[in-house]
Amino acid sequence: MTAEIDKHRFPPFPCRMTLDLTGKVAVITGAGRGIGRAVALAFARAGADVACVSRTETNAKQIAEEVGVLGRKSQAYAVDVAKAAEVDAAAEKILADFGRVDVLVNNAGINRDGLLMRMSETDWEAVLTTNLGGAFHFTRALSRGMIRQRAGRIINITSIIGLIGNAGQANYAASKAGLIGFTKSVAREFASRGITCNAIAPGFIETDMTSAINTDLRQKLLEKIPLGRFGQPDDVARCALFLASPAADYITGQVLTVDGGMVM
Ligand SMILES: NC(=O)c1ccc[n+]([C@@H]2O[C@H](COP(=O)([O-])OP(=O)(O)OC[C@H]3O[C@@H](n4cnc5c(N)ncnc54)[C@H](OP(=O)(O)O)[C@@H]3O)[C@@H](O)[C@H]2O)c1
Repeated sequence: MTAEIDKHRFPPFPCRMTLDLTGKVAVITGAGRGIGRAVALAFARAGADVACVSRTETNAKQIAEEVGVLGRKSQAYAVDVAKAAEVDAAAEKILADFGRVDVLVNNAGINRDGLLMRMSETDWEAVLTTNLGGAFHFTRALSRGMIRQRAGRIINITSIIGLIGNAGQANYAASKAGLIGFTKSVAREFASRGITCNAIAPGFIETDMTSAINTDLRQKLLEKIPLGRFGQPDDVARCALFLASPAADYITGQVLTVDGGMVM
């Protein structure tokens, strides 16, 4: 019986090896700032080559240079993820530049907050087409290669707002909840091809996106965080590194919340 169980176990390997991405190629959208930038640096430190996608060319170039300084191959791509044709062209270029893609992190995102009654069509569409459409465009463009390789990791950055909703963020919440349904569908569709797809739902992370929140609201939010501090981009990057690594081989279709215990 013991021998039967052992047959199905991986050979033991040192824990420190499990977060290694040596030889892997990662594409990270929204790599120019905040969480995406931290993910790009964490992956590069773990040995991955990184294709850095951002809307603004200077931001994309800056992070690509930083990854280069860490000794990894890197290239900048200025792309609006909301535009399918731009994404398809960038995906082709990435495959030509790097030869393959092992990990895709759909992180690019925006918010255009406002009460529902006053929410414009433009703000609704901008958030949906960037946050949800962007993930769809990049996943569609890069999954063909992963299917051929019979291996790949897709990580979507959703939000706790997609789990619990928030007044004034109907567009953002809809896009992030949509991303969770998208994640689970892709996980089911690609599982037999050796591709996993998971989501990370960050709570309040200190980046440009949250910098405009006023002191009163910040204090109220802080009181709702059991671990007693706001999250940092590196908190999310470590989770992404785990999901991209061999340590997460048997995890797919999941949403990992990184929020200091805010939602449980
Ligand atoms: N911060 C939080 O508390 C928090 C919480 C939960 C979830 N999230 C999610 O985490 C992700 C990253 O957020 P963040 O806080 O790091 O935001 P951020 O600091 O505002 O950075 C957003 C990044 O996304 C890129 N981006 C935006 N629209 C794009 C587009 N149309 N095409 C390509 N790139 C685009 C930006 O590119 P440029 O720099 O080139 O403009 C930037 O690099 C987002 O999906 C966000 O919804 C954040």
